[in-house]
Amino acid sequence: MKPQRHFMLTHAITADPAFEFAAEVRAGLTKPGQKELPSKYLYDDVGSALFEVISVLPEYGLTRADERLLRRNASDIVDRLPVPVMVAELGSGSGKKTRWILEALCRRQHTSYCPIEISPKALAMCARELGDIDSISIVGFEREYLDGLLEVAARRCPGQHLLVLFLGSTIGNFDRPAGLKFLRQVRGILQAGDSLLLGTDLEKPIHRLIDAYDDSVGVTAAFNLNLLARINRELDADFDLHEFEHVAHFNGEARSVEMHLRSKREQTVTIYKGGFSTALLEGETIWTESSHKYSPEEMFQIAQNAGFRCQEQWIDEEWPFAENLLIAE
Ligand code: AVJ
Repeated sequence: MKPQRHFMLTHAITADPAFEFAAEVRAGLTKPGQKELPSKYLYDDVGSALFEVISVLPEYGLTRADERLLRRNASDIVDRLPVPVMVAELGSGSGKKTRWILEALCRRQHTSYCPIEISPKALAMCARELGDIDSISIVGFEREYLDGLLEVAARRCPGQHLLVLFLGSTIGNFDRPAGLKFLRQVRGILQAGDSLLLGTDLEKPIHRLIDAYDDSVGVTAAFNLNLLARINRELDADFDLHEFEHVAHFNGEARSVEMHLRSKREQTVTIYKGGFSTALLEGETIWTESSHKYSPEEMFQIAQNAGFRCQEQWIDEEWPFAENLLIAE
């Protein structure tokens, strides 16, 4: 086992996560028109493990592109950052792709790294993965992104800059207006001169996108269906998973890949701990996730609109994906 040094964990303060889950499931499934479920709930232990499998599927190039860019350009990226800098990462996941940037930073100075995650498992994995880097201190925050970032920002020393990492195109799960709002909120917590390294998946031929979100082995289908299984497990519901199928399609207007779960027949489902039932028609869908795709050029405009300047962009050619270095103005 790798040595674990300097790891601290700040635990969650959420009142009752099961209650919040039930309320959001209820709101999404009783909504008139398109039914929906928040995509953040795809990531329980089973869902997170399935996403790790997705990230090694040949059809799903996103994670590998992100890792390639960070590995190849780590020292170039770090050279553009002020010294000293502390690092906050929004949604660390396993921490694997963050290694290159942290190693490059730790070569020039001792570095505090603060992963912010709602999953304690992911935080523990990330500490294990990165704890062996020389001259690193890891302080994990079991928090929602903005709450965690506020706390990290409050702990910085005078004169210390902040680098925020928001990798993997997680921003793509927001629609464009919500993504912009989120970036503005991040900017509001930062000081001028702080940086945000933002990973965004780029537009590419629709068939490549559909293959990536509807893979031949059915892992993405399992990842999507697991959301219903999770509701069965945690909220005592009676979804019959055989009566639903995974669908991925491209929304040309939103420029996003949408994942849905389609009801194969007319049926009623009861969510006992939510205290409600919901009726579905044959062919009706529950919208579970959107993954927005960007053009390289629009990132400059988005940055500007959120109070940043996009200083540099690194693009992967094999699977079009961009790392954007944004500087708070
Ligand atoms: C982890 C949000 C980047 O949107 O591509 C993968 C999640 N969903 N396959 C994405 C996901 C279906 C993924 N992100």
